[in-house]
Amino acid sequence: MKSIFRGRHFITLDDYAREEIDIMLEVSLDLKKKFAMGVPTPYLQYQTIFLMFFEQSTRTRNSMEAGISQLGGHANYLDTSGMQIAHGESAKDTAIVLSRYGQAIACRYCDWGIGNKYLKEMARWSTVPVMNLQCDLYHPFQGLADLMTMKEKIGDLKGVKVSIIWAYAESRKKPISVPLSQVLLFPRYGMDVVLAHPKGYELPDWVIEKARANAARHGGTVTVTNNEAEAYEGAHIVIPKNWGNWVTDQSTSVIDDHLVANKSWICTEEKMATAGKEVMYMHALPADRGNEVVDSVIDGPHSIVYDEAENRLHTAKAVMTLLMGGWGQKLPL
Ligand code: CP
Repeated sequence: MKSIFRGRHFITLDDYAREEIDIMLEVSLDLKKKFAMGVPTPYLQYQTIFLMFFEQSTRTRNSMEAGISQLGGHANYLDTSGMQIAHGESAKDTAIVLSRYGQAIACRYCDWGIGNKYLKEMARWSTVPVMNLQCDLYHPFQGLADLMTMKEKIGDLKGVKVSIIWAYAESRKKPISVPLSQVLLFPRYGMDVVLAHPKGYELPDWVIEKARANAARHGGTVTVTNNEAEAYEGAHIVIPKNWGNWVTDQSTSVIDDHLVANKSWICTEEKMATAGKEVMYMHALPADRGNEVVDSVIDGPHSIVYDEAENRLHTAKAVMTLLMGGWGQKLPL
């Protein structure tokens, strides 16, 4: 394979071959070891990344900011409500101008039907890598950190049953980008993926088709079910997490009758007891405690949520190092 990452955009992991994702994971692990040992990693000295946020963030913002500092560079945090975007400045003009000031642009924009299109428009005009910090469709940094965490805990993921399970939440109508990224990525590692949700919370058909094609190619399976119990039964990893019914209902209201009717979709100790003995509980965080999951599970012995969150730092550093640094040929964007 070519070792060319420098200059590429990072909108979705679908744009990267599995061998390239493996390199990202190896670099992440190397950076994690060096972080643990206190070995300096000044791979991006004097480089600037712009972090544009249309929404709130804890992990994504801070893993990127801390990460670029640890690589010797600098992040400009940009709340887009304080940019001329708020007065209507275009994605094109924003991307071209920021490209002239620094070495990468990263952006979070999750509005349904808008976010991914905005990122792709930025990528079209930017002359530096554009990184997706989560949009309405994809959350590639989260997918990569999840994969790293699972490989650390289990090793070879072939045949591992991972269940992505819809869960009730009242905090916000969450994007579908986390489960969507996971259901596309995990079958590429031969996992047996179960996607469980109540009727009305479907992911787009093209996602399921692509996930099944990935599974066929790499020896895994993809099962879609409305049966929550089937997802927990014998699972090695469960990822119960809320997402909004964006595909079937584009309204932005958070709580409606359909949501409330599915309040029983909460991760409990009883449900965890039907999974594998060593089952691991994952969640991208923030979790809606008491609605998505009970405290005794997320704080209990099966939970690996903080290791998962830590890996956001190491994977963020790996992606920035590979796309902003390196000696490879800079590909024309
Ligand atoms: N998991 C995740 O993206 O967290 P934040 O929303 O806090 O960035």
